[in-house]
Amino acid sequence: MAAVEANLAGIRLRNPFLLASGIWGESGESLRGAYEAGAGGVVTKSIGAVPRDGYPNPTVETFESWGMLNAMGLPNPGIVEYPQEVARARAAGVPVIGSVFAGDADGFADVGRRMESTGVLALELNLSCPHAKGLGSEVGSDPGEVERVVRAVVRAVKIPVLAKLTPNTADVVALGLAAERGGAAGVSAINTLRAMSIDVTLRRPVLANGLGGLSGAAVKPVGLAVVWQLFDALTVPIVGIGGIRTVDDSIAYALAGARAVEVGTAVAFGGVGVFGELSRGLPGRLDELGFRSWEDAVGAAHAGRSRPTSSVPS
Ligand SMILES: Cc1cc2nc3c(=O)[nH]c(=O)nc-3n(C[C@H](O)[C@H](O)[C@H](O)COP(=O)(O)O)c2cc1C
Repeated sequence: MAAVEANLAGIRLRNPFLLASGIWGESGESLRGAYEAGAGGVVTKSIGAVPRDGYPNPTVETFESWGMLNAMGLPNPGIVEYPQEVARARAAGVPVIGSVFAGDADGFADVGRRMESTGVLALELNLSCPHAKGLGSEVGSDPGEVERVVRAVVRAVKIPVLAKLTPNTADVVALGLAAERGGAAGVSAINTLRAMSIDVTLRRPVLANGLGGLSGAAVKPVGLAVVWQLFDALTVPIVGIGGIRTVDDSIAYALAGARAVEVGTAVAFGGVGVFGELSRGLPGRLDELGFRSWEDAVGAAHAGRSRPTSSVPS
């Protein structure tokens, strides 16, 4: 049977499937539930310095066959209340990656340091939420700012730092290279794509915030392209995210260059049982495809191609 362990910036995972940030990660119990269902590890919901209510409803619109639109507005209990949830998950042996957000480098360093002290194995910096004023992609669309934020956090903590990048940019590779220069141990991609929907009867946007972020099956080709481009340009490991629902989806991300993958919308639609399906199905499928291990599949679609290539042909 093919080996499915993954090594992400020195963190050993029993399999490459991580719970994505913002889905099912509210409590220690829910993080633990994802792990017990078969995930290799979990990413917490994004936590800031102080509690935040998020946006009023409606915050989500679902399209079961192809995706989900959300503008939650980063609701979270704040870093003072959250450590007990991480502690519960860590006590159950769950590998936890702590996701944090802030408005600038000092804010990220502060909340990152406090998240580190909860016992998480790594940090994931949310530089990519597409709908929160002054936060997320508003910070993470500028390579200079990405480098500053990552450098400040790397100096403030001892654990590996992953930068979660936005696809809402003309040049995601520039953001990835900036994260690498800042000292990131890896990058995660993608967060949601800026998107919206309009109710024609009401003549109004469906989401209370107007703009939101698109996730799920519809964004898988975008996520794959981003991982593909990052793999060509970066040396640090990449966590692939976007529209993963099946074992073959995850292997496609590995072939594009992802060392681990996160699963979000598929969990929102189908519950954490999806991690059981993925973790049970992966070894046999890797065997069928002729891979001895998950690690062997990482980047394999690039074999024989000269690297690096510039961006998309016109
Ligand atoms: C309801 C919802 C809430 C989310 N909240 C966060 C969040 O707090 N922090 C973050 O980095 N990403 C957040 N995301 C983005 C996901 O982690 C993931 O990057 C994105 O949904 C693409 O993966 P998917 O297609 O598997 O859902 C959220 C996504 C959804 C659908």
